[in-house]
Order: sequence, then C-alpha cells, then structure tokens
Amino acid sequence: MPTIVAISGSLRRKSFNTMLLNAVAVATPSGTTIEIASIRDIPLYDGDLDPASAALAPVRDLKERIASADGLLLATPEYNHSIPGVLKNVIDWVSRPATDIGRIFGGKPAAIVGATTGGGGTILAQAAWLPVLRALGTLPFFGKRVIVSNAAKVFSADGRLEDAVVRTQVEAFSVGFAEFVARHRLEADRS
Ligand SMILES: Cc1cc2nc3c(=O)[nH]c(=O)nc-3n(C[C@H](O)[C@H](O)[C@H](O)COP(=O)(O)O)c2cc1C
Repeated sequence: MPTIVAISGSLRRKSFNTMLLNAVAVATPSGTTIEIASIRDIPLYDGDLDPASAALAPVRDLKERIASADGLLLATPEYNHSIPGVLKNVIDWVSRPATDIGRIFGGKPAAIVGATTGGGGTILAQAAWLPVLRALGTLPFFGKRVIVSNAAKVFSADGRLEDAVVRTQVEAFSVGFAEFVARHRLEADRS
C-alpha cells in the first residue's frame, strides 16, 4: 500500500496546518496511508553535532521514514510572506549529508498545502518552497492546490474542517495526490 509521510510546519497545539493534514488524511482514499510525522524533537541545525549522537536520533528516524515512503506532503504556514523557519530547519536536517539527498528525496512525489489565518492562503509560502523541492530533486505534484485562508473560520475549535468549499478542495487534492503517488510507485516497480 503506498505510504505518504506528512509533516506539519507548526508546533502549535491548535495548529491549523496540523488540522489541515488531518483533514487530508481523512479524505485520502483507503488504498493509501498518510503517516503524520512529528517534528517536535528535531533540534536546530548545527553542522558540528555528531551525526551518530542521541540528539539526532529524531532526524535519523525522520530521514528513514521519508526514504521508505512513496510520497512526501508538507503543510506549510506562511511567515513574513515566506517559508517558516521551523519547517525549513527540518528539511535542512534531513537533506544532510548532501550525498543522501538522492536516496531520501530523489524522484519522490512531493506536495505542499497550507493554511493561514490571513487572506492570502499561504500562496507566497507555497511558492517559496518550490526551489527547495527542486534542489532536492523531488517530483512535485501540481495537479491540485489547497490554499486555506481565514483558517480560524474554516476549522472548528476542536479541529474539524467545517467549510464546504475547502472540503471540496481538500478532497480533490487528496484523491489527486494519492493517485499521483500510486502511479509513480507502479512505474518505479515496473522499471
Ligand atoms: C512570525 C509570523 C509571521 C506571519 N506571517 C504571515 C504572513 O506573512 N502571511 C500570512 O498569511 N500569515 C502570517 N502569519 C499568521 C499565520 O498564518 C498564522 O499564525 C497561522 O495560524 C500559522 O499556522 P498554524 O496555525 O499552523 O500555526 C504569521 C505568523 C507568525 C507567527
């Protein structure tokens, strides 16, 4: 069964981006598994840390989860019209050493979604991720978009997706990305 590792770029307990990932997981067809990975224990990037140290166990674990997954999904907040440092830090860690990039990310289906309390739907943050996805050699999914504005009105206090228009967007994305990941895995199995 194809597996997608999903990461929310916010540590907030009531993060709208985490709520959005949960909504994508619910809308994803039953033949595909979404695994939401925590980034809470990932330290700040420090090239002096011993790669084998206990502090970097969460980084090693996340790297292997991404490597063995069939797809990668990022839910990005937008900070100051760009990528949030919390999530960029995670992707920077799992891209080291650079000789591992091909094994972890090369040709891997990858998609970005995002939610903001503002009116811009994380369009600028999602666009800012594109050079990163390219640098890592991923296979970006551009089939459908999930751009959530005014997130406080879209999700209930307990995290349920309540907006019908956004739900339609999330369902189309979830089905489209699952198909994209499954198709790519089939092609990889054949070759
Ligand atoms: C440092 C900072 C900068 C922000 N800059 C933007 C921004 O440029 N555009 C935007 O739409 N929202 C911006 N926001 C608001 C976030 O979209 C909002 O806090 C959102 O809830 C964050 O996602 P989360 O709920 O998953 O934590 C910013 C928030 C913070 C903390």
